[in-house]
Amino acid sequence: MAQRRAVSKKQQFTLTWFGHSAFKLESPTGIVVLIDPWLDNPKAPPGAKELARVDIILVTHGHGDHLGNTLEIARQTNARVVAIYEIGLFLQSKGLNRVEGINKSGTVTIEGVRVTMTHAQHSSGLEPGGEILAGGDPAGYVVRFENGFTVYHAGDTGLFGDMKLIGELYRPDLVLLPIGGVFTMGPEEAAYACRLLKPKSIVGMHYGTYPVLAGTPAELRRHLPAPMRKAVRELIPGVPVKM
Ligand code: NI
Ligand code: MN
Repeated sequence: MAQRRAVSKKQQFTLTWFGHSAFKLESPTGIVVLIDPWLDNPKAPPGAKELARVDIILVTHGHGDHLGNTLEIARQTNARVVAIYEIGLFLQSKGLNRVEGINKSGTVTIEGVRVTMTHAQHSSGLEPGGEILAGGDPAGYVVRFENGFTVYHAGDTGLFGDMKLIGELYRPDLVLLPIGGVFTMGPEEAAYACRLLKPKSIVGMHYGTYPVLAGTPAELRRHLPAPMRKAVRELIPGVPVKM
């Protein structure tokens, strides 16, 4: 099996944070995965929406700060969109036809990338224009590339013990965890999540967008056991980093 993999795990991935929970992940073979594309957020860099290529958009839940610009980016790029079943139906009702509505522990393979939906401890109402629509459950994603590189985006979530299962089963290289607090885990809970997930690299998200999201990567580091502290990468919105 390993010999069939065209790309060595040492080849680098490019991760771009657009602020909040929005990320672009580009594989060494050029596959572009966009997660929770709220590209109008207060910390997003100028031109964030000018994306030449997007293959896959992952939506963790229905809240506007995560669904974000999914509709316009999907129309603009013809990307496949993965969401929980109910949000999938909502997106189809808005005219998207390349939607994969899945559910927890379910996996779809798109362009050789395996996308698995995980649990998240949160809520998920859709808020398309004043009223609240049922948006199924909130979720996270484990994204496994052909060369084995594995990323866990936790979505909006509180700490939950089954993160241990995610760590043991999928062995993520990189975890993207909310640290802002109030609506999600703060640094203390995210540090405990890292103990369960045992990743090589840790990136905080869902902080700093507004003053209320007060957790910081420095605080996350302080709560981590010493050997894990250097795994925390602090990103600047719009500046790509190699992973
Ligand atoms: Ni939320
Ligand atoms: Mn949120």
